[in-house]
Amino acid sequence: MAWRQSWLAALIAVALCNVGVVADPRWAAFQQPGWEAVEDKITPETIVVILALKQSNVEFLEDRARHVTDPDSAAYGAYYTSDELKSLIGPSDAQVDIVREFLSGTPGRTQFSEARDMVRYVCTVSCVEKVFGTKIKKQQRPTAPGTSPYRAVAPISLPAEVADALDGVSLNAPIFMPPRPKQPVRQAFQYPASHRYAPRINPYLFDAGDAFVTLRFVPYCLDGHPNAESLENGEQRLCQHRGDIVSFEIEILQDASQKVVQLPVTSELLGQRPAECGGQPCFEFNTTVGNIQNFAKTTARIRSHFAGGGVSDFSDPTEVWNVYPLPYTTPTLLANLYGLPLNKPIRDPRNIISVAEFLGQYYNPADLETFFQYMGVRSWEGEGTTQPTLTGSNNPFAGSVLGGEAQLDIQYIMGLAPNVTTSFWSVPGSELTTQQEPFLDWLMQVADTPDDKMTLVHSVSYGDKAEPMPIWFKRRCDVEFMKLALRGVSVLIASGDDGASGTEAQEDLAACSQSHPEYPAGSPWVTAIGATQLANAFTPVCSYTSDNVIVRCQDEREVVCSSSLGGHITSGGGFSEDAPRPWYQKEAVEKYLRQQDNPVPPIGGAWKYNVTGRGYPDISALGNNFLVWMGDHFTPVSGTSASTPLVAAMVARLNEERLEQGMPPLGFLNPLIYKLGSEHPEVFNDVVVGDNRCTAAGCCEIGFGAARGWDAATGFGSLKVDVAMKMLSPKQQAEEAATYVFAEKMPPARPPPSRSSLFAAAGVGAFAGMATLGMVAAYSPSLSRS
Ligand SMILES: *[C@@H]1O[C@H](CO)[C@@H](O)[C@H](O)[C@H]1NC(C)=O
Ligand SMILES: *[C@@H]1O[C@H](CO)[C@@H](O)[C@H](O)[C@H]1NC(C)=O
Ligand SMILES: *[C@@H]1O[C@H](CO)[C@@H](O)[C@H](O)[C@H]1NC(C)=O
Repeated sequence: MAWRQSWLAALIAVALCNVGVVADPRWAAFQQPGWEAVEDKITPETIVVILALKQSNVEFLEDRARHVTDPDSAAYGAYYTSDELKSLIGPSDAQVDIVREFLSGTPGRTQFSEARDMVRYVCTVSCVEKVFGTKIKKQQRPTAPGTSPYRAVAPISLPAEVADALDGVSLNAPIFMPPRPKQPVRQAFQYPASHRYAPRINPYLFDAGDAFVTLRFVPYCLDGHPNAESLENGEQRLCQHRGDIVSFEIEILQDASQKVVQLPVTSELLGQRPAECGGQPCFEFNTTVGNIQNFAKTTARIRSHFAGGGVSDFSDPTEVWNVYPLPYTTPTLLANLYGLPLNKPIRDPRNIISVAEFLGQYYNPADLETFFQYMGVRSWEGEGTTQPTLTGSNNPFAGSVLGGEAQLDIQYIMGLAPNVTTSFWSVPGSELTTQQEPFLDWLMQVADTPDDKMTLVHSVSYGDKAEPMPIWFKRRCDVEFMKLALRGVSVLIASGDDGASGTEAQEDLAACSQSHPEYPAGSPWVTAIGATQLANAFTPVCSYTSDNVIVRCQDEREVVCSSSLGGHITSGGGFSEDAPRPWYQKEAVEKYLRQQDNPVPPIGGAWKYNVTGRGYPDISALGNNFLVWMGDHFTPVSGTSASTPLVAAMVARLNEERLEQGMPPLGFLNPLIYKLGSEHPEVFNDVVVGDNRCTAAGCCEIGFGAARGWDAATGFGSLKVDVAMKMLSPKQQAEEAATYVFAEKMPPARPPPSRSSLFAAAGVGAFAGMATLGMVAAYSPSLSRS
């Protein structure tokens, strides 16, 4: 059949030959929960469509990929060059011709990938509608500012021969949500009108970290009405006409100890703002109490002292949320925790790592420099790399976001692997204006990278619920990831921030009724990274309490990152519903399903999950409270999207030692990870406390618990880089890691910021009332023993 005579002929051909194709799920109209087509006028700009041609030799290559990634195989590390791969995988010449001819009759621009297994097709919206026989609409979701990808809202119809030659096209491929690294959510608080004297209180974590708790409250006057007066300068009393309040007494309760703060009513110690109390105007105050214990479950209550000696009831403890002050995460903390040499430069020019950024996220180079200075990250004048190279562009454009994600990724990946060559891989690059979600586009670009420029580690903090994604898309991406495994590339994917039940469960408790695995985290050919947080309840005995014994551990180590413990997100994990369990994890996962530390939810029970699927994550790393420099202040962010660039930096460090000794890079990590997990568990900080039943906001009842060995909340736990280094590079087995003296060579750094200037920078300088100094008593009641 000839498709090429003319554009018109092509269209007629479309009309004649699409019989029977429509029912094929590969060509179904785009659907994704939470995304809606908007009726906006579609601008006549071009959009990019990726066509994925069917590949041959996939089974053969899968077999080869197992060999080159299996540490026990003689072929371990014998990766394929781009040319070798091209000669093995790819469509038949006939299929390429069919697709080429079909597209050549259209006005669009066509570019085949090197392996000819993907096509990048650029045309206007109306052109794409005609060529693919569908209707294109703009999709919009409020949580992704500045992004409005186009998708096919009607089934795609292609000539049968063309459809036969393809796995699918990106027009109905899923749109990956931006990862939304989490910042603390301030809960709206209602102050009911109540005829009682106790203040209403709403304490929450001040900036989600360190040893401070901010309390918000409304005091009630002696006559039972909420206070409606503001504190004018110099005023030392509230409720003048209805019983003067002269001070507040705050009790901070932490486990077995409590602190009492006496707070005079002065505008220096209290912030204030107008609020609403049962429909009446009132004034809300705030204050911050400091020097409280990290890691401990913290509640607070407050009462008013009246002039003349009277005192109100304490606020109702049930009004108070538990908060867990946790330390801020910095490169130094991470380096100490994981045995990462912090100021030892990466030198090998082949050691290239990359952060993939989609949906218009960009980073600020000046912020990166500032971050390095504050964090004491060394730079090397003249012979150092302090800025990433760009693939695509980093241009702020209308509606784009100075990405929390992009900033986090680039600051931590480069801070922890100093002088590493980092590629900021922003897709869709120069075609940003098309705002087309570009996951396949990214995979095509990565596949086309020549061997000498190949990125060894990709950090990808993007993912979404797997179930609505078309099967063809998931399987095709799996093959692309497998091709990267054959080339010695590590692909790290964040496991998601909403536990086992997924993002939907944040808003809809019905989503708690089953597990909702994510993709690409659930691909068998990627390494999925979960999140941990620090706690001093890291072994079960550390939280043991009975009438005569209360155990509190002094140091703190990792537990599952969970919003129920102040972690702000909950590490994603579970079992893929459609990718079967891969060979490398059979033993570990089956052991997990049988263990009794934290038994898995009953298989076949009311809470549904597919126990035969690929289990994830594979490993984890700390993922909460990372301090990220955003323009003029530090913001703490949390997420598996923090853990992922951190692990990427660890892998870069391990690769560096290997490259230095003439060994191949680690490449696809999973077969190695599971082998180490079974034979050298000492390489991991095994995480055994916690579970992933919560989401980033709120909790379901069921999820997967951490357990000894691999588990579906944290994988094998986090990597001890120093231990792994000795095991994975022979030279290190003999000598201890070199210590690097850098102090005398440090460039003049800006003076280390004092605590108060840090707070000022964070925009809380105006925040009256750091009540630390007002603390008048601190005591721990002695534990009773019998
Ligand atoms: C506390 O009050 C001050 C003064 O009104 C305000 O600037 C600040 O944002 C408040 N802090 C919080 C955490 O609400
Ligand atoms: C930084 O890396 C480059 C290669 O990317 C290397 O040439 C240079 O020597 C490194 N700098 C230091 C201080 O090791
Ligand atoms: C479970 O997953 C396997 C593949 O991993 C799939 O073949 C099977 O259909 C799934 N079962 C259910 C009930 O979804």
